[in-house]
Amino acid sequence: MSNALVIKGFGGERKLSGTVRTTGAKNAALKAIAATVLFRDTVTLTNIPEINDVERMFELLKDMGAEVAHSKRGAYTVTIPKGFATELSTGIAKKMRASVVLTGPVLSRFGKVSFPHPGGCVIGSRPLDLFVDGFEKMGATVTVKDDSYVVEAKGGLKGAEFFLKNQSVTVTETFMMAGVLAKGTTVIKNAAMEPEIEELAKFLNTCGAKIAGAGTPTITIKGGSLLSGKGHPYKTMPDRIDAGSFLILGALAARELHITHCEPLHLESPIAALRSAGVAIETKKNEIIVRAPAHLKPVDIKTHEYPGFPTDLQAPMTVFLTQSDGESTVFETIFEGRLNYTESLAAMGAQITMMDPHRVLVRGKSELRGRKLTSPDLRAGLAFVIAAVIAKGESVIHNVDTTIDRGYEDVDARLRAIGVEVERVSAIPEVIA
Ligand code: EPU
Repeated sequence: MSNALVIKGFGGERKLSGTVRTTGAKNAALKAIAATVLFRDTVTLTNIPEINDVERMFELLKDMGAEVAHSKRGAYTVTIPKGFATELSTGIAKKMRASVVLTGPVLSRFGKVSFPHPGGCVIGSRPLDLFVDGFEKMGATVTVKDDSYVVEAKGGLKGAEFFLKNQSVTVTETFMMAGVLAKGTTVIKNAAMEPEIEELAKFLNTCGAKIAGAGTPTITIKGGSLLSGKGHPYKTMPDRIDAGSFLILGALAARELHITHCEPLHLESPIAALRSAGVAIETKKNEIIVRAPAHLKPVDIKTHEYPGFPTDLQAPMTVFLTQSDGESTVFETIFEGRLNYTESLAAMGAQITMMDPHRVLVRGKSELRGRKLTSPDLRAGLAFVIAAVIAKGESVIHNVDTTIDRGYEDVDARLRAIGVEVERVSAIPEVIA
């Protein structure tokens, strides 16, 4: 049994209008939840998106002994007790790559952590070598057996300096948090610069941490003692991928769509790409207004670490390019397995040629037809929703619970509110398109 979304497509008409409110950011909230392990007292978290990944992260913490209270929608408190366990539940961690960020705070506070190789979206090999290198540089011993890791730092972690060969967001956040309770200074070079990292650092600094340079390629953390959440509630920043996904949908199918409670400055690259394709976009302080033009021009897209074009918007943007008149290329530079969904778009009528595992050529404009679809990952899932909305006829998107619901809050209700004909059904057998 799984949930599916049934969407009646508009067949290319521009019918959407209204307002969509951006939710709190998944990839910020998950790290703030992990960071509660660095606190000696209760932490209050607000504007937390009510999505499956967040639920799992809280389950993981509760399984280790944390006291988690959910007072109202989006609001939680977390307290880490003395007898907190240091083993991450395999069942939960295997479903979510982001679980790995817990290892930094747990190891630096309790001197030990064990965890499985984490699961999550199938978008590439997703190694852990940078985590292992970093733990060892900070004085820990790492034992790898079968698929699990045991990391021990008898006497605590020591500050260290390291250069990341890849600008991984979770590696940067893990070691930024590990450094908070380490002895001495930790320096992360070639750090990722995503806004979620800067927000995490700001919050930790408000609560007593000494982190400098977050948002730049060099982050310096002066180790200290446990943090205090008293009087410092955390408020999750707007989700730039949620806002960007609705922006792309609006650019294809809206008479006029207002995306509110977002941060347009975090979407400069996608906004520039859409504008060069001919889309009318207006930005205000926390709002983006978009109108779909009659004709779209082709654009070449290359994903890049922030502030470049986000890999998490690559699949929705490829759907957009199927509607541009002419040839566009999409170059995915971060993950080697993140273009597999294009086969399903081709089955809907898109003209897409795989040039190599990292690049596709998109020829537009193609008329898309509704299909039964099964998404390989959560971001491709939302791309399928966009494709279904602009297609002719009905589409059924399967496995919503294990893809789209992991990262997008109330997606069907929010789509319906702006005019999409969408229905959630259960018990439809899974079909691989
Ligand atoms: N990498 C290594 N060694 C490691 C870890 C990573 O070489 O030990 C490499 C990977 O091979 C890849 C790059 O570093 O080339 C990044 O991979 P990683 O799995 O570490 O991804 P991340 O940067 O931590 C975060 C988001 C992703 C988002 C990327 C890029 C979280 C939980 N995940 O991943 O989000 O795509 O940044 O912005 O924050 C999603 O939300 O759907 C998602 C996949």
